[in-house]
Amino acid sequence: MYNFDFLVIGSGLAGLTFALKAAEFGSVAIVTKREINEANTSYAQGGISGVMNLVDDSYEKHINDTLVAGAGLCDKKAVEAMVKEAPRLINELMTRGVEFTKKNGKLHLGREGGHSENRVVHVDDATGMEVENVMVRNVRNHPNITVFEHHFAMELLTEHHLGKKAKYLKNIHCYGAYVLDEATGKVHRMLAKRTILATGGAGAVYAKTTNPDIATGDGIAMAYRAKAKIRNMEFVQFHPTALNVPEADSFLISEALRGHGAILRNADGVAFMEQYDARKELAPRDIVARAIDDQLKKRGDKSVFLDITHLPDDETRNAFPNIYETCLQYGIDITKQLIPVVPAAHYFCGGVETDLVGKTSVQQLYACGEVAYTGVHGANRLASNSLLEALYFADRAVDAAIIGVDKTTFNEKIPQWDESGTFNTKEWVLISHNREELQQIMSNYVGIVRSDLRLERALRRQTLLYEEVEDFYSRTRVSIPLFELRNLISIAYLIIRAAMDRKESCGLHYNIDFEDSIGQTI
Ligand code: FAD
Ligand code: SIN
Repeated sequence: MYNFDFLVIGSGLAGLTFALKAAEFGSVAIVTKREINEANTSYAQGGISGVMNLVDDSYEKHINDTLVAGAGLCDKKAVEAMVKEAPRLINELMTRGVEFTKKNGKLHLGREGGHSENRVVHVDDATGMEVENVMVRNVRNHPNITVFEHHFAMELLTEHHLGKKAKYLKNIHCYGAYVLDEATGKVHRMLAKRTILATGGAGAVYAKTTNPDIATGDGIAMAYRAKAKIRNMEFVQFHPTALNVPEADSFLISEALRGHGAILRNADGVAFMEQYDARKELAPRDIVARAIDDQLKKRGDKSVFLDITHLPDDETRNAFPNIYETCLQYGIDITKQLIPVVPAAHYFCGGVETDLVGKTSVQQLYACGEVAYTGVHGANRLASNSLLEALYFADRAVDAAIIGVDKTTFNEKIPQWDESGTFNTKEWVLISHNREELQQIMSNYVGIVRSDLRLERALRRQTLLYEEVEDFYSRTRVSIPLFELRNLISIAYLIIRAAMDRKESCGLHYNIDFEDSIGQTI
């Protein structure tokens, strides 16, 4: 019942794309920890970048914009391959049923920071919701795909579960995962010939994030425990403009607003971006987020403001219906009032290292989407390149994963999960306290602007939390909040260590103790 050719962990765009394509070659299980459509993908606003207009735009321009945003650390080969496939992959989404916004019968192409041309296909300002819904419809109709909702992947199965020590192994293999069924509390051993991590990012490691609370870095943490290579974790992207109203839970105000002419102002109404970069509001995100951080710190303000009041009301309402309605719920009419915004953790450029076809350093384990480090984002992701990356690498990973799958056998020697352990119900509240404590540590010491001293402090505090939580874990039966907390603590460790190891400032990693390698001024 729990043996599948392909085990896909995660049901965002990366997981669903992989599943739909792989299902043509074998049986597929999708394991997802909440409802199928609860994924960062569903919250995407701006859209998907791709050169859909070869008259004004070109692959070279998209490649160059990606490399410039990535501050010199992108893998050029990966970028070139992804950019050239974007039109095919966007057309494929349309064939599956996605209806991107059109004007006069042609795809409407939006603009975002760091793009030298209009090249973002979108569905108004709620692109992710439509893309996710269409993909879910396709998946639900596929006879080879079984979906396990409210199932939480806890551990990847490797030789470690056969009692072998990683240091004595030449090659580690992945044989599936232990998966906790939330409804029954039972842990299933799911065996697979190929396992695909598509678990998304880890925004929840920070106090303020645009991500939903599922984004706890489970895939990266599991892969780390399985001894897969993890890379570039210091490059955490803070989106410059999350709505700064306490009840709004860092709702994103899309960069597409700035692409449409919105201006960033400080509390005195001054448009400040020109002091920081000639591209002003449309500079890459790392620069805009740091500029806002600088304004807030220098002036002691709580917010900066996004101003789109100069556009005709109808135009704003039509172009941004989701943002207009949501802000209105919080008492802000964006056609007449300025929108209070602050940066919030948004995206992980690093993750589980893969090659150009999604293979990780562990045999039979693949990674695609935000969980992966594929090389395309370098030190800073270009806006709307993430959904494209998820599409492209899921597509490539299928081509690689199907090779030899018919000759691979299930590893039935892997034991069932050991259910022993006792509940310690009195102490459960500690889990939420520890999660908040960790988020505060990361926000205070490992945010947009870092220093050696802050990183050292963060590591000391993270180590203490790690020790406490591991002790609690060893005495308690498994639960999803506890697993998520352990994973977040590993993610924090990986970010802090990577940040300490990088002896320069570059892209999203800005350390005041080091010169900026590309000479930025903040
Ligand atoms: P996700 O869509 O995050 O899916 C991860 C899946 O894994 C989820 O289903 C989750 O439940 C599941 N999962 C995680 N851990 C486990 C576990 N242990 N067990 C089982 N299941 C698990 N990018 C763009 O390119 N354009 C945009 O316009 C854009 N706008 C954005 C707006 C917002 C508000 C946010 C938060 C992000 C935005 N991004 C955008 C980034 C982009 O949405 C994500 O990077 C992308 O959707 C990631 O897709 P994914 O499939 O890798 O992961
Ligand atoms: C946005 O709409 O601003 C988000 C786009 C992205 O994260 O790529």
